[in-house]
Amino acid sequence: MLRSKCLPVKSLTLLGWAALLSGLALAACRPANVQSDGAPAFSAQEKTLILSLSPRPRPPENPGNSLADSANAAHFGRYLFYDTRLSLKGDQSCASCHHPGLGWSDGKPLAVGLKTTSRNSPTLWNVAYQRWLFWDGRTDSLWAQSVQPLESLNEMGMSRVGLLHSFHKHPELRRGYEALFGPLPSNAGLPAQARPVPEDPKHPLQQSWNQLSPQQQLAVNRFVSQLGKSLEAFERQIVSGESPFDRFVADLRANKPASKELSVEAQKGLRLFIGRAQCILCHTGPLLNDREFHNIGLPKHPHLPVDQGRYAGLPKLLADPFNGLGPFSDLPSREHEWNDKLHYLSRQASNKGEFKTPGLREITRTGPYMHDGRFKSLEEVLLFYSQLPNQPPATGRREDTIPPLELKPEELTYLLAFLKALEGPQAGPELSQKPKDPVVQRSPS
Ligand code: HEC
Ligand code: HEC
Repeated sequence: MLRSKCLPVKSLTLLGWAALLSGLALAACRPANVQSDGAPAFSAQEKTLILSLSPRPRPPENPGNSLADSANAAHFGRYLFYDTRLSLKGDQSCASCHHPGLGWSDGKPLAVGLKTTSRNSPTLWNVAYQRWLFWDGRTDSLWAQSVQPLESLNEMGMSRVGLLHSFHKHPELRRGYEALFGPLPSNAGLPAQARPVPEDPKHPLQQSWNQLSPQQQLAVNRFVSQLGKSLEAFERQIVSGESPFDRFVADLRANKPASKELSVEAQKGLRLFIGRAQCILCHTGPLLNDREFHNIGLPKHPHLPVDQGRYAGLPKLLADPFNGLGPFSDLPSREHEWNDKLHYLSRQASNKGEFKTPGLREITRTGPYMHDGRFKSLEEVLLFYSQLPNQPPATGRREDTIPPLELKPEELTYLLAFLKALEGPQAGPELSQKPKDPVVQRSPS
């Protein structure tokens, strides 16, 4: 065990001026949990917490998508991800708001598609690890999630029937689809655009959707879910590489002394993160995210209506025809453990103002921050946690695990240095470019 390195005053005077001047006196007075270079000497308990944050394991499986780990589906998914023909006006793709060069986000406070939306584009770095998608968790899988931006009137503005027409019109889209899923369903006699609009039964798109027979609706829904499954296979590949923090943890695990992978500041930030600042309560595990929802007490946004977050998302999740209980999931049975939560989740008043805890890997690349992009920089985020505003939360109740931390200026610097050390290499061209052909070209062997 470490003991205090502070020598009694008497022995210090015996050491004399020479020792004092040589700097030994400084070391002589350092607390037990600090090393000679000022870096923390982590306790066994701290070490256990740190080891729980790295390395990043393989993404969890998604048994609801039989193509989740298919390389061919991922290739086609990447083709679709960068394809503007999937949008109503032909000018937007998924990458417009999830751009690899902008941290798989867009650098804007609020996403802008056909209109300005009321939420910030989340990063797609490590999105395969998310259990619930969207800030309010209104879908339970990546493939189910994909349908919504395609059809959102604020984003890409297409409809599932409009998409089917597009695939009939463009031979490459059709070829890519048919290579994976077989013949494209017929579009004969279908209206130009049609889809369900659950929030507005009188909407013209819903009226057009009502004209389809149940068989036609089923075929179109299956088609759009297959696009989602391809997009998911691609998105599952967007995972972080090794960061300085991972290399530091590897050294710690191997009991290598005095790792140089993290600066002293970043190590001090790490100690705060897992200790007094309590960040690890929610930003936990190798993605620094508990995959759940919390109300951290952000006050009302000056220009946006109050956002109820998880409280509004839950009923949408349960009603989503593309969730794990629906007919389009590939789960072997509806009783599969994937659906456990869907059976008993119901919204509570405590869900008001809850948003999904974001992961913190690559966080330096993905600003602005929070569900409404209110903070431009990480400094602003840290000041929020340090001071907590004097105003009440926009809705609901701030969780007790968020006390004002009253961090000293140097402590803010330490936390920032730690967050910066969570950055791995940039995504390579195999992810950040549209493939030339929608179908994987096999080199002759
Ligand atoms: C106009 C900008 C825009 C476009 C285009 C767009 N997105 Fe998004 N995306 C967003 C916003 C904003 C959110 C968060 C919305 C919310 O929480 O209500 C989001 C959320 C997501 C999420 C959830 C991430 C998480 O951690 O919960 C995924 C995955 C995603 N988008 C993938 C896609 C795919 C795939 C496409 C193309 C089919 C796409 N997006 C097109 C803006 C966009
Ligand atoms: C009670 C759970 C909880 C604790 C404790 C917590 N966070 Fe968060 N954090 C969240 C949630 C939830 C959000 C998203 C809130 C929103 O957008 O409304 C968030 C957002 C963030 C963001 C912005 C991420 C993004 O992509 O927009 C950063 C950075 C962050 N937290 C860092 C920290 C740090 C550093 C600490 C410790 C000082 C901390 N958090 C403590 C739950 C928590």
